[in-house]
Amino acid sequence: MEILNEMRLMFLSKSENEGFARVTTAAFVSPWDPSVSEIVELKTAVSEAVSNAVIHGYDKTVGIITLEMRLFSDYTVEVSITDAGKGISDIEKAREPLFTTKTEEERSGMGFTVMESFMDSLQVESEPQKGTRVFMKKKLHPNHT
Ligand SMILES: Nc1ncnc2c1ncn2[C@@H]1O[C@H](COP(=O)(O)OP(=O)(O)OP(=O)(O)O)[C@@H](O)[C@H]1O
Ligand SMILES: [Mg+2]
Repeated sequence: MEILNEMRLMFLSKSENEGFARVTTAAFVSPWDPSVSEIVELKTAVSEAVSNAVIHGYDKTVGIITLEMRLFSDYTVEVSITDAGKGISDIEKAREPLFTTKTEEERSGMGFTVMESFMDSLQVESEPQKGTRVFMKKKLHPNHT
């Protein structure tokens, strides 16, 4: 499959950068004219993953988050969000709806569920004390009618 476009962005784990990641994601795909709902779904999934890296991965520390995106000629977008934070000990449990390790901070435990429902696929790779990589794919349908 031919690659139409590709990018990599590194930024600090500050909550301001959730908006930065959302805008970047939308800007990356918008030249191919996806539907508004596809853009909203894609950027929401990305911002859930970025917010997890900020809140859980780096917790009260500051580290680097890497956002990578690739667009293929069949309009499949691949996105990965990587942090070098504290990692996830039980990935299967973390992915369950309503599961959160931050009950005291009014988190709903729905981030992974949102990513899964808005994207075509979601892979989570993580190792405690090493970090987490979230890899997602979504096929866009440009020039929708
Ligand atoms: N990048 C990460 N690093 C470390 N732990 C993570 C990371 N992403 C997710 N987790 C763990 O997985 C759990 C579930 O994540 P999820 O996004 O589904 O819910 P949440 O972030 O707790 O709540 P919400 O997203 O609804 O605000 C988190 O509570 C956290 O323990
Ligand atoms: Mg979350």
